[in-house]
Formats: sequence, structure tokens, C-alpha cells
Amino acid sequence: MFPVHRPRRLRENPTLREMVRETRPSLQDLIYPLFVRPGRGIKEPIPSMPGQFRYSVDMLVKEVREVHSLGIRAVLIFGIPERKDELGSEAWSPDGIVQRAVRAIKDEVPELLVITDVCLCEYTSHGHCGVVEGGRVLNDPTLELLSKVALSHARSGADMVAPSDMMDGRVKAIREALDREGFQGVPIMAYSAKYASAFYGPFRVAAESAPKFGDRSSYQMDPPNAREALKEMALDIEEGADIVMVKPALAYLDIIRLARENFHVPVAAYSVSGEYAMIKAAAKEGFIDERRIVFEVITAIKRAGADLIITYFAKEMAREIGR
Ligand code: PBG
Repeated sequence: MFPVHRPRRLRENPTLREMVRETRPSLQDLIYPLFVRPGRGIKEPIPSMPGQFRYSVDMLVKEVREVHSLGIRAVLIFGIPERKDELGSEAWSPDGIVQRAVRAIKDEVPELLVITDVCLCEYTSHGHCGVVEGGRVLNDPTLELLSKVALSHARSGADMVAPSDMMDGRVKAIREALDREGFQGVPIMAYSAKYASAFYGPFRVAAESAPKFGDRSSYQMDPPNAREALKEMALDIEEGADIVMVKPALAYLDIIRLARENFHVPVAAYSVSGEYAMIKAAAKEGFIDERRIVFEVITAIKRAGADLIITYFAKEMAREIGR
């Protein structure tokens, strides 16, 4: 007890503080999400996400070279297609936007790990993540489409696929499809505990993927639920998920911790568009110190138990870590 114990002793000088620091985000933890769109020579700012852009494939390649040179090892690719239809068929077109982007990145920067988001909402005319019939999102007919998407990403050279649709049984369906075609070595990072969150708002502007009717509550999780997250993650692991993800991150740190404590697979956390936009907006107003807040938030996500952190601040973090 005091005066023998004085926690301040270890805080007195910066070297000591750094020596006893318990959590250190590192470059290997970071995954940078990127948006790719049709066209050439395009780097289009995303109004809802200042500092983020939609790139045409040629410009994306330039961007990933920089990302890689900062020491970031992995990117997560989202596509905005030329046209949408009822089923989202552009999502599995061999010459679709993501497929072309993956080939181009793997050609230019083969060491960079390319993960693809597997979903339909950017590709469907109704903006839902599955097959819609009579105003409902159907589960089982969607599985076949998702498998086709994952397979076409793997064929284009994707190193890992990340299904974000939240249909039941999709990990099993995708695993079977990949295995059948010789892609046993392509891991699945499942968006397992993905909540029906208002934090995705800015992303839906960026990806033009907002649902045209209703919302995603019949497939994404209800935000108050934690036990259900454990169930979702357990099911995905049984179905063959190599990595489970919690999304969003900042308002779900307890879920990240639960994932870490209950399962023996790597846990990813997605710090989503709304988390990014809030920090950007507050910093622009001068209300907060962006640099310090970003470091604090990303460190908190790691401290909660995330092994991998998907963040639009990956470049800022990489610069901070390298400092
Ligand atoms: C696609 C998908 C979404 C995000 C990642 N994959 C949007 C959604 O579910 O509506 C959100 C990412 C973010 O907000 O940064 N289903």
C-alpha cells in the first residue's frame, strides 16, 4: 500500500513509460479498405469520408504501391460496378471491377495481401445483400450467388475472401465451392458478428449500396446482442471460417473481447466508415486532436483483443508507428 506502492514511479519519464506499455499496434495488424470503380485516371473523393477516394483500377494500383511502401501488408477491396441488376450479377463477372482490380494489384505488388469483400449489396438494384423476392431477402438462394462471387475473386488471385452478407450458412457454402475448385488454400475471414449499425452510413454513400427499401435488420445482428455474437462466431468457425470479424469496432469493444476469450482463431475488428467520419468531422471543427485520437482508438481496439484491425486510418497509423 501507499507509500510503498506508487504507480506514478513508472510514469515519470518517457522511456520508462514506453518500456512498460502493454499494447502496441503494429504494421502487421493493419488492413486498409479501398474502393474501386470503373473508368481511367479517376481518383474521386468520397464526400462522406474525407481523405478516402474511389479509384479507377489504374489509379488504385498507384495507391496500393504507396500503401505497401508505408509497410501496410494487406488491403480489403470493395467494388462499385458499372451496372446493377436484380441478382447483382456483376459481382461474379470474370471481368468485374473487383476481379480486374485484384489482377492488377497482384501483377504490380504481388507481396501485398489482397482480401476481397464478398457481398451483393453494391451490385444489386435493390441494394440488399441477397436475393429479394416479395420484399424479403431470401437466405438459401443467396448462398449459391455468394459462392460464385468468392470463387471468381479467388480465380482472379484474391489471397483471402471476406463474406459480409450475414446469410446463414454462407461460410460453409463458400468453403465448399472454393475447395471444389482447388482453392483449399484460400482463407475465409468471416464478418461473423456484423451488426445492423448506423455506423455504416458513410460507406453506403461511398459504395452506393444503401438498401432501396427497408433495412438490413433481418440479416445483420441486433446491436444490443452479445450472446448471439458468440453463436454467430461459433457457427462460422464450425463452417470453416479461418478468421472471425467483429464490426463495427469502437461501440463493440466488449464483443471483440468476448471473441478473443472464447475462440482460438484470429479476431479481426472493422473500424467502420462512421467511426472514421466522426473523427474526421470533429477534427475539422477543431474539437479534437486527430492524431492522438486515432492512435488511442486503434490501440483500444487492439487492447480489447483484436489481432487484425481494418481501418481507413491505416496509412496514418502506419506513419505513426514508423515515427
Ligand atoms: C457490405 C458491407 C458494408 C460494410 C462493409 N461491407 C455495408 C453494409 O453492410 O451496409 C460497411 C463498412 C463501413 O461502414 O466502413 N455488406
